[in-house]
Amino acid sequence: MHITFFETAAEDQDEITKALAGHTLQFHNETLTKATAGLAADADIVSTFINSELSSEVIGMLGATKYITTRSTGFDHIDLAAAKTKGITVSNVPGYGSRTVAEYTFGLMLCLSRKLFAANARLRNEKSFSLDGLVGFDLAGKTLGVLGTGRIGKNVITAAKAFGMNVLAYDAYHDDAFAAQMGFPYVDLPALLAQSDVLTFHLPYNQGTHHVLNMGNVGLIKKGAYLVNTARGELIETKALLAALRDGTLAGAGLDVLEAERSAKNGEASEAVADDLALIAMPQVIATPHVAFYSEGAVEQISQTTIQNITAFIAGTPQNVVD
Ligand code: NAI
Repeated sequence: MHITFFETAAEDQDEITKALAGHTLQFHNETLTKATAGLAADADIVSTFINSELSSEVIGMLGATKYITTRSTGFDHIDLAAAKTKGITVSNVPGYGSRTVAEYTFGLMLCLSRKLFAANARLRNEKSFSLDGLVGFDLAGKTLGVLGTGRIGKNVITAAKAFGMNVLAYDAYHDDAFAAQMGFPYVDLPALLAQSDVLTFHLPYNQGTHHVLNMGNVGLIKKGAYLVNTARGELIETKALLAALRDGTLAGAGLDVLEAERSAKNGEASEAVADDLALIAMPQVIATPHVAFYSEGAVEQISQTTIQNITAFIAGTPQNVVD
C-alpha cells in the first residue's frame, strides 16, 4: 500500500515506519490542501491532522485514495459526504485525549480564576511582591456549565466535582446514569448560560453546533462569568464573544481554539482573522495555539491508534470509522 502522511514532524515518523514496514510511506510536513493534494496523487491511504482542509474539492483530487485516517478526535475538517460519495472510508482517534483535554481545561480555568499569568508577570517583570489587583476567586462553590458531556466533558465534570463545584450540563444526549452518579442536572442552553459562573465547551463541531453561542443568546450569560473553549472555535460566534468581553458580560476567557485559526496559521488576512487577533490581544483573554491535546501520553496514543486504524483497514476490518 502507498500511504501518505501530512502534518508530520520528524519525531513522529520512526514508530510509524517500523510498524508499517513493507508499505510505501511518504511523510510531509505540509497540511493537505488544494495546493498540496498532488503529493497524495498515488496514495491508497492518507493520514492528516486537524490543520488540513479535506473539502470536497481536495477529496476529489485524491486519485486512488480509499481510506483517510485523521490523527485527531475531531473530524470537522473532513467533508464526510464527499468522502462517502467517492467510496472513501474515514476514521479518527476517539478518546485519546479525554483526560488530557480535561486537565488542560482546568489549567485554563485556574489561570483565569487565580490570575496566574498576571501574578507571574508581576514578580518576573516588575520584581514586585504587591498583590494589588491580583485577587482571584475560588472554583469551589461556583457553578460550572458544561456544554457536551461526552468523553472529555465527563472527565471535566469529575474534576469539577473534586474541586467542589456545582455542575450544570447541556447535551443533545442525556447520560442519566452518569448525571445521577455525579449529582448534576441536564438543563437547556438558556438556563445553562444564565446560571453558570464558568462555561466550558466540549461539543464536537457539526451543523447542529455551529455558533451554539451567538449574538442572539450571548446576552443570557450571567454577568461576570468566565468562558473556556478547548473544543472548536466555530462553536462560538467570535463577534458575540468579543462583544461580551468588551461590555463585561464575560469577565474573561480561556481559549485553546479560535474560529479562524486555520486561516490565521496560513497567514491569511480576513475580517475573521482580525477578530481572532483582537480576542488574543485582550488582557482578560488567555489564548493558546490548539495545544490542549499535546501531552506525551496523548501523542503516543494517537500514533498507536493511527497505526492500528491503518492495519485494520488493510486487513479489511476498518475501525474507528466516522460517518
Ligand atoms: P464525544 O463525541 O465523546 O462527545 C461529544 C458530546 O457532544 C456527546 O455527548 C454528544 O451527544 C454531544 N453532541 C454532539 N452533537 C451535539 C449537538 N448538535 N447538540 C448537543 N450536543 C451534541 O467527544 P469528545 O471526545 O468529548 O471531544 C469533544 C470535542 O473536543 C471533539 O469533537 C474535538 O473537537 C475537541 N477536541 C479538542 C482537542 C484540543 O486539542 N483542543 C483535543 C481533542 C478533542
